[in-house]
Amino acid sequence: MSSPKKQPQKPTCKRIAVIPGDGIGQEVIPQAVKVIQASGADVEFADFDWGADRYLRDSTTVPPGGFAMLGRDFDAVLVGAFGDPRVKSNIHAKEILLGMRFQMDLYANVRPVRLLEAALCPLKGIEPKDVDFVVIRENTEGVYTDAGGVFKPGTPDEIAIQEDINTRMGVERIIRYAFEFCRTHTKLDGSPRAKVLMCDKSNAMTHAGGLWQRVFQEVSREYPQITPQHMYVDALCLQMVRDPRQFDVVVTNNMFGDIITDLAAGLQGGLGMAASGNIHPGKTSMFEPVHGSAPPIAGKNVANPFGAILTAAMMLAHLGMTREARKIEAAVLEAVRQKKTTEDVGGRLGTREAGEWVADRVSRG
Ligand code: NAD
Ligand code: IPM
Ligand code: MN
Repeated sequence: MSSPKKQPQKPTCKRIAVIPGDGIGQEVIPQAVKVIQASGADVEFADFDWGADRYLRDSTTVPPGGFAMLGRDFDAVLVGAFGDPRVKSNIHAKEILLGMRFQMDLYANVRPVRLLEAALCPLKGIEPKDVDFVVIRENTEGVYTDAGGVFKPGTPDEIAIQEDINTRMGVERIIRYAFEFCRTHTKLDGSPRAKVLMCDKSNAMTHAGGLWQRVFQEVSREYPQITPQHMYVDALCLQMVRDPRQFDVVVTNNMFGDIITDLAAGLQGGLGMAASGNIHPGKTSMFEPVHGSAPPIAGKNVANPFGAILTAAMMLAHLGMTREARKIEAAVLEAVRQKKTTEDVGGRLGTREAGEWVADRVSRG
């Protein structure tokens, strides 16, 4: 009798592509990597130098086959930020960052909004339990597709057209993602998520808004246990600073999602605290802090690494390493409580020192 063929063992070690990018991305990402290592997560890293320096050196933004390689050879991608005053066109950011989102079809930009300590919120009387919502931003369509053009450039008759692309498929999948997210996630205090709010500007942008409205109503009927809500984006901005307690899951298009998540970062203590994931369920996904490359503070060891570190925790949770992710989140919370932070959130530490404090805490935890 022949013995059964031995199946190759599925390696548990996850492979992470690391792209720090430009400016403070090069400072915060090494801290996030250090914290992941301290957590004992079974991962290995490969570094990529995509960004402004590489572009200025050899005109490469993304090497040929780069996105296919990321999808094939890696379980996740950890990214810093792109943007450099030496590259006026911002072409490298567009090709690398938007390239990853579009070509790897990372359609759900998940941006959690959590307040770790009351002192970090500029609103009076708002406590951590009051700010615990998530923005689900459509990430592959809208005004970001670069459809359009310029007619008679540089003349008094110049016409610039920027198209807003909204496909039935794209709108439906992001709205469905938001409802599924609501169904399957709890709040930090363990209570169930219960509301999905769609944010648009359908009173002025009637064509695209009409599609979003219709699809939202249709999909919401499949989730009778979830309360569907709607707000125009301008009204939502007011409500976010008036009373953030009312939000649970917010779903919106690409541009509104970009704008309201900077506003939401303000509720959390600033851009230095905000994490995000660019996700396509089942495919290699990409994780990056919400902030940019912050050129004026780059290279000074002052940038807050916690947004990047919380992003790393989000990535580990996505890869199934929830224990390591929780350990990291707990250490960041403790750092905030003990003011072992950078100056933007009230401490006196540098980027490296704040990262080291968290890594040390994680390795003991
Ligand atoms: P930014 O997020 O870089 O900075 C906005 C403000 O927040 C600045 O005052 C900055 O000092 C502060 N800030 C940001 N991150 C911080 C941190 N970790 N710690 C402390 N303070 C922090 O946005 P910007 O100034 O509009 O853009 C700068 C460049 O970054 C531009 O080229 C822009 O296109 C790019 N950008 C890239 C991304 C990305 O790659 N994901 C995101 C946003 C902006
Ligand atoms: C973000 C950034 C990007 C966006 C820029 C750099 C193109 O602001 O990730 O929030 O608008 O999506
Ligand atoms: Mn943004």
